[in-house]
Amino acid sequence: MLTDRFQRRFTYLRLSLTERCNFRCNYCLPDGNDCSSDEADLSLPEIRRLLTAFARLGTRKVRLTGGEPALRKDLTDVISLCKQIPGIEKVALTTNGFNLQRELPHWLDAGLDALNVSVDSLEASSFARITGADRLQYILDGIDQALASPLRQVKLNTVLLRQHNATDLPAFLRFIQERPVALRFIELMRTNDNTDFYQAQHLSGEVIRQHLLDSGWSLQPKGETDGPALEYAHPDYAGRVGLIMPYSKDFCSSCNRLRVSSRGELFLCLFADQHQSLRDLLQSDDPAPVVAFLQRAILGKEETHYLHQQHSGQTRHLAMIGG
Ligand code: GTP
Ligand code: 5AD
Ligand code: SF4
Repeated sequence: MLTDRFQRRFTYLRLSLTERCNFRCNYCLPDGNDCSSDEADLSLPEIRRLLTAFARLGTRKVRLTGGEPALRKDLTDVISLCKQIPGIEKVALTTNGFNLQRELPHWLDAGLDALNVSVDSLEASSFARITGADRLQYILDGIDQALASPLRQVKLNTVLLRQHNATDLPAFLRFIQERPVALRFIELMRTNDNTDFYQAQHLSGEVIRQHLLDSGWSLQPKGETDGPALEYAHPDYAGRVGLIMPYSKDFCSSCNRLRVSSRGELFLCLFADQHQSLRDLLQSDDPAPVVAFLQRAILGKEETHYLHQQHSGQTRHLAMIGG
Protein backbone atom coordinates (compact mmCIF):
# COMPACT_ATOMS: atom_id res chain seq x y z
CA MET A 1 0.00 0.00 0.00
CA LEU A 2 1.24 3.51 -0.82
CA THR A 3 0.73 5.80 2.17
CA ASP A 4 2.34 9.19 2.70
CA ARG A 5 3.46 11.15 5.77
CA PHE A 6 -0.07 12.56 6.14
CA GLN A 7 -1.77 9.14 6.22
CA ARG A 8 -3.25 9.60 2.75
CA ARG A 9 -3.56 6.39 0.77
CA PHE A 10 -2.97 6.36 -2.98
CA THR A 11 -5.14 3.88 -4.84
CA TYR A 12 -5.67 5.93 -7.99
CA LEU A 13 -3.19 6.56 -10.81
CA ARG A 14 -3.70 9.18 -13.50
CA LEU A 15 -1.62 8.14 -16.47
CA SER A 16 -1.06 10.60 -19.28
CA LEU A 17 -0.77 8.85 -22.65
CA THR A 18 0.49 11.81 -24.66
CA GLU A 19 1.16 15.52 -24.25
CA ARG A 20 -0.17 16.18 -27.73
CA CYS A 21 -3.58 17.73 -28.13
CA ASN A 22 -5.65 18.66 -31.18
CA PHE A 23 -7.60 21.38 -29.30
CA ARG A 24 -6.24 24.80 -28.33
CA CYS A 25 -8.16 25.63 -25.16
CA ASN A 26 -7.48 29.26 -24.29
CA TYR A 27 -6.70 28.42 -20.63
CA CYS A 28 -4.46 25.46 -21.46
CA LEU A 29 -2.75 25.38 -24.85
CA PRO A 30 -3.73 28.57 -26.73
CA ASP A 31 -0.60 28.45 -28.89
CA GLY A 32 -0.23 24.72 -29.14
CA ASN A 33 2.17 22.59 -27.23
CA ASP A 34 5.60 24.10 -27.67
CA CYS A 35 7.15 22.09 -24.86
CA SER A 36 5.98 18.75 -26.15
CA SER A 37 9.26 16.86 -26.66
CA ASP A 38 10.20 14.31 -29.25
CA GLU A 39 10.74 11.71 -26.58
CA ALA A 40 8.39 8.86 -27.37
CA ASP A 41 5.27 8.26 -25.34
CA LEU A 42 5.32 5.21 -23.09
CA SER A 43 4.96 1.99 -25.06
CA LEU A 44 2.50 -0.78 -24.25
CA PRO A 45 5.17 -2.94 -22.51
CA GLU A 46 6.30 0.08 -20.45
CA ILE A 47 2.70 0.79 -19.46
CA ARG A 48 2.20 -2.86 -18.49
CA ARG A 49 5.28 -2.82 -16.24
CA LEU A 50 4.30 0.50 -14.69
CA LEU A 51 0.77 -0.63 -13.88
CA THR A 52 1.93 -3.98 -12.55
CA ALA A 53 4.10 -2.17 -9.98
CA PHE A 54 1.38 0.32 -9.04
CA ALA A 55 -1.19 -2.49 -8.69
CA ARG A 56 1.16 -4.36 -6.34
CA LEU A 57 1.09 -1.25 -4.16
CA GLY A 58 -2.70 -1.06 -4.03
CA THR A 59 -3.64 0.99 -7.11
CA ARG A 60 -7.20 0.00 -8.04
CA LYS A 61 -8.19 2.72 -10.48
CA VAL A 62 -6.40 4.10 -13.53
CA ARG A 63 -7.52 7.21 -15.38
CA LEU A 64 -6.07 7.69 -18.85
CA THR A 65 -5.48 11.35 -19.64
CA GLY A 66 -3.37 13.59 -21.89
CA GLY A 67 -3.04 15.97 -23.76
CA GLU A 68 -5.69 14.16 -25.70
CA PRO A 69 -5.33 10.42 -25.04
CA ALA A 70 -7.47 9.53 -28.07
CA LEU A 71 -4.71 10.87 -30.33
CA ARG A 72 -2.92 7.64 -29.58
CA LYS A 73 -3.79 5.10 -32.24
CA ASP A 74 -3.44 2.29 -29.70
CA LEU A 75 -5.78 3.76 -27.05
CA THR A 76 -8.11 0.76 -27.28
CA ASP A 77 -5.14 -1.58 -26.71
CA VAL A 78 -4.08 0.52 -23.70
CA ILE A 79 -7.57 0.16 -22.19
CA SER A 80 -7.51 -3.63 -22.74
CA LEU A 81 -4.05 -3.80 -21.23
CA CYS A 82 -5.13 -1.91 -18.09
CA LYS A 83 -8.04 -4.31 -17.65
CA GLN A 84 -5.67 -7.27 -17.77
CA ILE A 85 -3.49 -6.12 -14.87
CA PRO A 86 -4.39 -8.08 -11.71
CA GLY A 87 -5.69 -5.65 -9.10
CA ILE A 88 -6.83 -2.88 -11.46
CA GLU A 89 -10.60 -2.72 -11.00
CA LYS A 90 -11.56 0.43 -12.84
CA VAL A 91 -10.30 2.10 -16.02
CA ALA A 92 -11.51 5.62 -16.77
CA LEU A 93 -10.78 8.06 -19.57
CA THR A 94 -10.72 11.87 -19.74
CA THR A 95 -11.11 13.11 -23.31
CA ASN A 96 -12.07 16.21 -25.26
CA GLY A 97 -14.45 13.95 -27.19
CA PHE A 98 -13.25 14.81 -30.70
CA ASN A 99 -13.74 11.21 -31.91
CA LEU A 100 -16.14 10.02 -29.23
CA GLN A 101 -18.92 8.74 -31.49
CA ARG A 102 -16.56 6.76 -33.68
CA GLU A 103 -14.39 5.28 -30.93
CA LEU A 104 -16.74 4.74 -27.98
CA PRO A 105 -17.89 1.26 -29.12
CA HIS A 106 -14.24 0.14 -29.32
CA TRP A 107 -13.40 1.60 -25.89
CA LEU A 108 -16.41 -0.15 -24.40
CA ASP A 109 -15.45 -3.47 -26.00
CA ALA A 110 -12.00 -3.04 -24.48
CA GLY A 111 -13.59 -2.66 -21.03
CA LEU A 112 -13.73 1.08 -20.32
CA ASP A 113 -15.57 1.69 -17.03
CA ALA A 114 -15.97 5.48 -16.85
CA LEU A 115 -15.80 8.50 -19.11
CA ASN A 116 -15.17 12.21 -18.44
CA VAL A 117 -15.61 14.66 -21.32
CA SER A 118 -14.48 18.30 -21.29
CA VAL A 119 -17.25 20.65 -22.43
CA ASP A 120 -16.60 24.29 -21.61
CA SER A 121 -19.72 25.77 -23.18
CA LEU A 122 -23.05 24.54 -24.58
CA GLU A 123 -23.16 27.34 -27.11
CA ALA A 124 -21.42 26.36 -30.36
CA SER A 125 -19.63 29.65 -31.08
CA SER A 126 -18.50 30.09 -27.49
CA PHE A 127 -17.26 26.46 -27.42
CA ALA A 128 -15.28 27.11 -30.60
CA ARG A 129 -13.83 30.33 -29.18
CA ILE A 130 -12.65 28.59 -26.00
CA THR A 131 -11.32 25.37 -27.52
CA GLY A 132 -10.38 26.37 -31.05
CA ALA A 133 -12.54 23.46 -32.27
CA ASP A 134 -15.94 23.78 -33.92
CA ARG A 135 -17.15 20.40 -32.72
CA LEU A 136 -19.74 20.92 -29.99
CA GLN A 137 -22.71 19.09 -31.52
CA TYR A 138 -20.65 16.03 -32.42
CA ILE A 139 -19.38 15.84 -28.84
CA LEU A 140 -22.84 16.31 -27.31
CA ASP A 141 -24.24 13.55 -29.52
CA GLY A 142 -21.35 11.36 -28.38
CA ILE A 143 -22.26 12.06 -24.76
CA ASP A 144 -25.85 10.95 -25.43
CA GLN A 145 -24.47 7.82 -27.08
CA ALA A 146 -22.41 7.12 -23.94
CA LEU A 147 -25.44 7.68 -21.70
CA ALA A 148 -27.37 5.12 -23.73
CA SER A 149 -24.47 2.63 -23.49
CA PRO A 150 -23.72 0.30 -20.57
CA LEU A 151 -21.73 3.16 -18.99
CA ARG A 152 -25.08 4.92 -18.28
CA GLN A 153 -23.23 7.88 -16.69
CA VAL A 154 -20.77 10.49 -17.90
CA LYS A 155 -18.86 13.21 -16.10
CA LEU A 156 -18.60 16.55 -17.86
CA ASN A 157 -15.77 18.99 -17.07
CA THR A 158 -16.34 22.71 -17.44
CA VAL A 159 -13.62 25.19 -16.54
CA LEU A 160 -15.15 28.37 -15.11
CA LEU A 161 -14.12 31.45 -17.12
CA ARG A 162 -15.32 34.90 -16.11
CA GLN A 163 -15.78 36.30 -19.62
CA HIS A 164 -16.61 33.12 -21.51
CA ASN A 165 -19.06 30.85 -19.74
CA ALA A 166 -19.95 32.41 -16.38
CA THR A 167 -23.48 33.03 -17.62
CA ASP A 168 -23.92 29.54 -19.06
CA LEU A 169 -25.14 27.98 -15.81
CA PRO A 170 -28.87 27.92 -16.77
CA ALA A 171 -28.03 26.19 -20.08
CA PHE A 172 -25.90 23.60 -18.29
CA LEU A 173 -28.65 22.96 -15.75
CA ARG A 174 -31.19 22.43 -18.54
CA PHE A 175 -28.75 19.98 -20.12
CA ILE A 176 -28.58 17.81 -17.00
CA GLN A 177 -32.27 18.04 -16.12
CA GLU A 178 -33.05 14.76 -17.91
CA ARG A 179 -29.54 13.40 -18.27
CA PRO A 180 -27.67 11.48 -15.53
CA VAL A 181 -24.57 13.59 -16.05
CA ALA A 182 -22.19 14.61 -13.28
CA LEU A 183 -21.32 18.13 -14.36
CA ARG A 184 -18.23 19.58 -12.72
CA PHE A 185 -17.35 23.22 -12.64
CA ILE A 186 -13.60 23.48 -12.22
CA GLU A 187 -11.96 26.64 -10.94
CA LEU A 188 -9.37 27.85 -13.41
CA MET A 189 -5.94 26.93 -12.07
CA ARG A 190 -2.98 29.17 -12.56
CA THR A 191 -0.15 27.57 -14.54
CA ASN A 192 3.09 29.09 -15.76
CA ASP A 193 1.68 29.50 -19.28
CA ASN A 194 -1.61 31.18 -18.38
CA THR A 195 -0.81 33.79 -15.72
CA ASP A 196 -2.33 36.82 -17.53
CA PHE A 197 -5.28 34.78 -18.67
CA TYR A 198 -5.74 33.56 -15.12
CA GLN A 199 -5.83 37.12 -13.74
CA ALA A 200 -8.54 38.09 -16.21
CA GLN A 201 -10.66 34.95 -16.15
CA HIS A 202 -10.47 33.22 -12.77
CA LEU A 203 -13.86 32.93 -11.15
CA SER A 204 -14.46 31.42 -7.74
CA GLY A 205 -16.70 28.35 -7.54
CA GLU A 206 -18.42 30.12 -4.65
CA VAL A 207 -20.47 32.06 -7.22
CA ILE A 208 -21.93 28.82 -8.57
CA ARG A 209 -22.30 27.36 -5.10
CA GLN A 210 -24.40 30.30 -3.95
CA HIS A 211 -26.58 30.12 -7.03
CA LEU A 212 -27.15 26.39 -6.49
CA LEU A 213 -28.04 26.80 -2.82
CA ASP A 214 -30.46 29.63 -3.67
CA SER A 215 -32.20 27.37 -6.22
CA GLY A 216 -32.78 24.36 -3.99
CA TRP A 217 -29.66 22.28 -4.66
CA SER A 218 -28.14 20.52 -1.66
CA LEU A 219 -24.67 19.29 -0.83
CA GLN A 220 -24.37 15.50 -0.93
CA PRO A 221 -22.34 13.32 1.43
CA LYS A 222 -18.94 12.59 -0.13
CA GLY A 223 -19.32 9.58 -2.45
CA GLU A 224 -16.68 7.18 -3.67
CA THR A 225 -16.72 8.49 -7.25
CA ASP A 226 -16.75 12.22 -6.44
CA GLY A 227 -12.97 12.67 -6.50
CA PRO A 228 -12.01 16.22 -5.56
CA ALA A 229 -15.52 17.57 -6.26
CA LEU A 230 -18.17 18.71 -3.82
CA GLU A 231 -21.40 17.35 -5.32
CA TYR A 232 -24.84 18.97 -5.26
CA ALA A 233 -28.17 17.35 -6.15
CA HIS A 234 -31.72 18.56 -6.75
CA PRO A 235 -34.92 16.44 -6.79
CA ASP A 236 -35.98 17.83 -10.20
CA TYR A 237 -32.69 16.99 -11.94
CA ALA A 238 -31.38 13.64 -13.16
CA GLY A 239 -27.84 15.02 -13.13
CA ARG A 240 -25.62 16.42 -10.41
CA VAL A 241 -23.38 19.45 -10.17
CA GLY A 242 -19.89 19.14 -8.71
CA LEU A 243 -17.56 21.95 -7.77
CA ILE A 244 -13.80 21.45 -8.01
CA MET A 245 -12.25 24.24 -5.98
CA PRO A 246 -8.51 23.68 -5.55
CA TYR A 247 -8.09 27.15 -4.02
CA SER A 248 -10.32 26.29 -1.11
CA LYS A 249 -8.90 25.08 2.16
CA ASP A 250 -8.72 21.31 2.79
CA PHE A 251 -8.93 20.37 -0.91
CA CYS A 252 -5.81 18.24 -0.63
CA SER A 253 -6.54 16.47 2.63
CA SER A 254 -8.36 13.63 0.85
CA CYS A 255 -5.94 13.36 -2.09
CA ASN A 256 -5.82 9.75 -3.30
CA ARG A 257 -4.06 10.14 -6.64
CA LEU A 258 -0.63 10.10 -8.20
CA ARG A 259 0.31 11.05 -11.72
CA VAL A 260 2.65 9.65 -14.34
CA SER A 261 3.37 11.64 -17.48
CA SER A 262 3.44 10.20 -20.99
CA ARG A 263 7.24 10.01 -20.71
CA GLY A 264 7.17 7.99 -17.53
CA GLU A 265 7.79 10.77 -15.01
CA LEU A 266 6.20 10.49 -11.60
CA PHE A 267 4.46 13.65 -10.39
CA LEU A 268 3.45 13.58 -6.74
CA CYS A 269 1.12 16.55 -7.31
CA LEU A 270 -0.43 18.43 -10.22
CA PHE A 271 1.59 21.40 -8.98
CA ALA A 272 5.00 20.26 -7.81
CA ASP A 273 8.53 21.50 -8.26
CA GLN A 274 9.95 18.16 -9.08
CA HIS A 275 9.22 15.00 -10.91
CA GLN A 276 11.19 11.80 -11.07
CA SER A 277 11.67 9.60 -14.09
CA LEU A 278 10.67 5.96 -13.83
CA ARG A 279 11.48 5.23 -17.42
CA ASP A 280 14.78 3.41 -16.96
CA LEU A 281 13.16 1.14 -14.43
CA LEU A 282 10.41 0.30 -16.92
CA GLN A 283 12.85 -1.44 -19.26
CA SER A 284 12.83 -4.63 -17.21
CA ASP A 285 9.97 -7.00 -16.39
CA ASP A 286 10.95 -7.09 -12.73
CA PRO A 287 8.48 -4.84 -10.83
CA ALA A 288 10.55 -4.86 -7.60
CA PRO A 289 12.75 -1.81 -8.38
CA VAL A 290 9.71 0.25 -9.45
CA VAL A 291 7.85 -0.79 -6.29
CA ALA A 292 10.82 0.22 -4.11
CA PHE A 293 11.17 3.53 -5.96
CA LEU A 294 7.51 4.41 -5.44
CA GLN A 295 7.58 3.46 -1.76
CA ARG A 296 10.47 5.86 -1.24
CA ALA A 297 9.12 8.63 -3.46
CA ILE A 298 5.73 8.82 -1.76
CA LEU A 299 7.39 9.99 1.45
CA GLY A 300 8.32 13.21 -0.38
CA LYS A 301 4.73 14.18 -1.17
CA GLU A 302 3.86 17.58 0.25
CA GLU A 303 0.71 18.31 2.23
CA THR A 304 -0.72 20.64 -0.41
CA HIS A 305 -0.01 22.21 -3.80
CA TYR A 306 1.72 25.47 -4.75
CA LEU A 307 -1.41 27.32 -5.84
CA HIS A 308 -1.82 28.88 -2.40
CA GLN A 309 1.63 30.43 -2.78
CA GLN A 310 0.77 32.22 -6.02
CA HIS A 311 3.01 30.10 -8.15
CA SER A 312 2.57 26.79 -9.87
CA GLY A 313 5.86 25.03 -9.42
CA GLN A 314 7.09 23.76 -12.78
CA THR A 315 3.66 23.20 -14.27
CA ARG A 316 3.46 25.07 -17.57
CA HIS A 317 0.02 23.76 -18.49
CA LEU A 318 -2.08 20.81 -17.44
CA ALA A 319 -1.62 18.96 -20.74
CA MET A 320 1.88 18.14 -19.41
CA ILE A 321 0.43 15.94 -16.70
CA GLY A 322 -3.16 15.30 -17.70
CA GLY A 323 -4.95 17.47 -15.15
P1 GTP B 1 -12.46 11.15 -11.16
O1 GTP B 1 -12.64 11.33 -9.69
O2 GTP B 1 -11.70 9.94 -11.51
O3 GTP B 1 -13.71 11.30 -11.97
O4 GTP B 1 -11.48 12.24 -11.59
P2 GTP B 1 -11.50 13.75 -11.75
O5 GTP B 1 -12.81 14.35 -11.51
O6 GTP B 1 -10.35 14.27 -11.00
O7 GTP B 1 -11.17 13.72 -13.28
P3 GTP B 1 -10.89 14.66 -14.42
O8 GTP B 1 -9.75 14.06 -15.16
O9 GTP B 1 -12.12 14.81 -15.23
O10 GTP B 1 -10.45 16.01 -13.75
C1 GTP B 1 -11.30 17.04 -13.43
C2 GTP B 1 -10.52 18.25 -13.05
O11 GTP B 1 -10.14 18.17 -11.69
C3 GTP B 1 -9.25 18.46 -13.84
O12 GTP B 1 -9.16 19.81 -14.20
C4 GTP B 1 -8.19 18.16 -12.87
O13 GTP B 1 -7.06 18.91 -13.12
C5 GTP B 1 -8.79 18.55 -11.54
N1 GTP B 1 -8.16 17.76 -10.51
C6 GTP B 1 -8.24 16.42 -10.38
N2 GTP B 1 -7.47 16.00 -9.36
C7 GTP B 1 -6.86 17.11 -8.86
C8 GTP B 1 -5.90 17.32 -7.84
O14 GTP B 1 -5.43 16.40 -7.19
N3 GTP B 1 -5.47 18.60 -7.62
C9 GTP B 1 -5.96 19.63 -8.35
N4 GTP B 1 -5.53 20.86 -8.06
N5 GTP B 1 -6.86 19.46 -9.34
C10 GTP B 1 -7.30 18.22 -9.60
N1 5AD C 1 -7.41 25.00 -14.80
C1 5AD C 1 -8.47 24.16 -14.61
N2 5AD C 1 -8.75 23.09 -15.38
C2 5AD C 1 -7.95 22.88 -16.42
N3 5AD C 1 -7.98 21.91 -17.36
C3 5AD C 1 -6.93 22.11 -18.18
N4 5AD C 1 -6.21 23.19 -17.80
C4 5AD C 1 -6.83 23.70 -16.71
C5 5AD C 1 -6.58 24.79 -15.84
N5 5AD C 1 -5.53 25.61 -16.01
C6 5AD C 1 -9.01 20.87 -17.42
C7 5AD C 1 -9.57 20.60 -18.79
C8 5AD C 1 -10.04 19.16 -18.69
C9 5AD C 1 -9.35 18.62 -17.47
C10 5AD C 1 -8.62 17.35 -17.68
O1 5AD C 1 -8.47 19.63 -17.05
O2 5AD C 1 -10.63 21.41 -19.14
O3 5AD C 1 -11.42 19.07 -18.51
FE1 SF4 D 1 -6.33 19.85 -25.00
FE2 SF4 D 1 -7.51 19.37 -22.66
FE3 SF4 D 1 -5.68 21.29 -22.82
FE4 SF4 D 1 -8.06 21.61 -24.05
S1 SF4 D 1 -7.68 21.41 -21.81
S2 SF4 D 1 -6.03 22.06 -24.95
S3 SF4 D 1 -8.56 19.55 -24.69
S4 SF4 D 1 -5.31 19.10 -23.10
